[in-house]
Amino acid sequence: MHWWTSGGEARAVDTLKQMMQKQGDTWKDFAVAGGAGEAAMTVLKTRAVSGNPPSAAQLKGPDIQEWAGMGFLTDLNGIADAGKWDSIMPKRIAETMKHDGDYVAVPAGVHRINWLWINPEAFQKAGAKVPTTLDEFFEAADKLKAAGIVPIAHGGQNWQDTTIFESLVMAMMGPEDYHKAFVETDEDTLRSDKMVEVFKTFKRIRNYIDPDAAGRDWNLATAMVINGKAGMQIMGDWAKAEFTAANKTPGKDYLCVVMPGTQGDFIYNIDSLAMFKLKNEANKKAQQDLARTVIDKPFQEVFNLNKGSIPVRNDIDMAKFDDCAKQSMKDFQAANDSGKAEPSLAHSMANTSYIQGAVFDVITNFFNDANADPKKATEQLVASIKAAQ
Ligand code: BGC
Repeated sequence: MHWWTSGGEARAVDTLKQMMQKQGDTWKDFAVAGGAGEAAMTVLKTRAVSGNPPSAAQLKGPDIQEWAGMGFLTDLNGIADAGKWDSIMPKRIAETMKHDGDYVAVPAGVHRINWLWINPEAFQKAGAKVPTTLDEFFEAADKLKAAGIVPIAHGGQNWQDTTIFESLVMAMMGPEDYHKAFVETDEDTLRSDKMVEVFKTFKRIRNYIDPDAAGRDWNLATAMVINGKAGMQIMGDWAKAEFTAANKTPGKDYLCVVMPGTQGDFIYNIDSLAMFKLKNEANKKAQQDLARTVIDKPFQEVFNLNKGSIPVRNDIDMAKFDDCAKQSMKDFQAANDSGKAEPSLAHSMANTSYIQGAVFDVITNFFNDANADPKKATEQLVASIKAAQ
């Protein structure tokens, strides 16, 4: 069960289907559309509670621990020991896959959130410069707007709003405060003057999206950048998979630029599959095959080439990957060492689904209300998170 339904995502998941079928396993696809997986998680709960969980489900971050804590997940320690999982991937990834020291999920790839996708032709038409700071970002947006191009392709959905918001938090407050706000939910940080500034800046974004943004799926927003209707999009690198699927070349047809102000920082989102406890022996064997396949080098390469993410293993030859992926890999490794890697809240990595939902409500209500007050929004953030704790 997964939510990989866009053109690029479907190509990526198809690589897994083929590898499984080659081994004689049966692939039953259970895809629940909806970016960032909120709809999928709702369906998963219904299935699990009624005693009919899928063999494997796309589950991420703290949700993995939550499901394992309730006793739903099977451990993968045998395969993990044999495959030396502890030593082939960064500790940060390994820990996310474990519950009480047991592996209960297998990681597929690492996405970076803080990316800006650019159509260089649109920039050229508008006389806009590729931004490296937030000031330059808004200058470019003004130029695009003046040229009649939608500056920022956006889909008005809670997780997309928060994807932009968290990138702004990283850009304006830095990794330490990002951590305090979203991982520790520290009240002083959440209601700080800096956070008020983030809300003010977030509000400015409204001036640069088109009137049809409400409810739009993220991949349709990416399509606007691909076809030049829009100049840029702030989105994780699953967006790259859409460019790849459209046969576009990075550096030429489109640019991947680190979100201005977040150079060296890395908001990460690890995709992983968790395995549910099953009774049927054949299905159990298939689960083991799946876990082994996902971590094996051939899958890590071909899946991530198609998905826009980077391999989770330290020992993959990156020769076939493009410059965006190479930069992502380099930045992820450096950020892991320097403490500048932080988990995405919008993508269920930083906190529980309850806290995430509480933040989503405040961010999206704020974004949709032209008269919303930034200072009040920070208080709402504190109150809403408290109520969810
Ligand atoms: C997932 C990605 C997916 C994206 C859009 C993210 O939360 O981690 O794999 O491509 O949502 O649906």
